[in-house]
Amino acid sequence: MKITGVMIPKEEIREICQRLGKEITQDYQGKEIVLICVLKGATVFLADLMREIDVPCEIDFMSVSSYTGTKSSGDVKIIKDLDDTIENRHVILVEDIIDSGLTLSHLLDILLRRNPASLKICTCFDKPERRKTEVKVDYIGRQIPDEFIVGYGLDYNGRYRNLPDICTLEISGQEDIDE
Ligand code: IMP
Ligand code: MG
Repeated sequence: MKITGVMIPKEEIREICQRLGKEITQDYQGKEIVLICVLKGATVFLADLMREIDVPCEIDFMSVSSYTGTKSSGDVKIIKDLDDTIENRHVILVEDIIDSGLTLSHLLDILLRRNPASLKICTCFDKPERRKTEVKVDYIGRQIPDEFIVGYGLDYNGRYRNLPDICTLEISGQEDIDE
């Protein structure tokens, strides 16, 4: 596999974070929020987004597994749960990318059962063409076409998360070990 080009340069990602941070700041005036980061892909986005938010906020992390290659299996397992309770808290779930939406809808079920005061979703990237289940996403950084991307926290089998830009990757059929 090889990197074939830059789809979204870091300057544009910076603008996305600034815009989303401003929207969240306006929407949560007078409130305190908990940002839940879905490991590992959303860590880079969380780090940038939280610095654009100007209301009191805490962060917590959750790890679920649903992917081994490039295709969603739809199988979601909690690997690491939140450290703290979210009961009566205003929660924003921070995602790197929403693809089929299966990971997210499963996570939403789990989190809603814990009775947060409110629960919204913020994703940096969205691939609407690939959706397999309907999910209401409150904050979307940018919609992208149905292409596999890496960089800015997003990986292919654990690699490329450190690239500062969103890049496209050429993957040959045999390397896609998930299907
Ligand atoms: P979903 O359950 O299909 O929506 O999968 C969401 C998760 O799959 C994301 O949090 C990513 O970890 C991963 N993912 C989906 N599309 C891509 C991609 O293009 N590049 C890297 N990871 C992806
Ligand atoms: Mg991933």
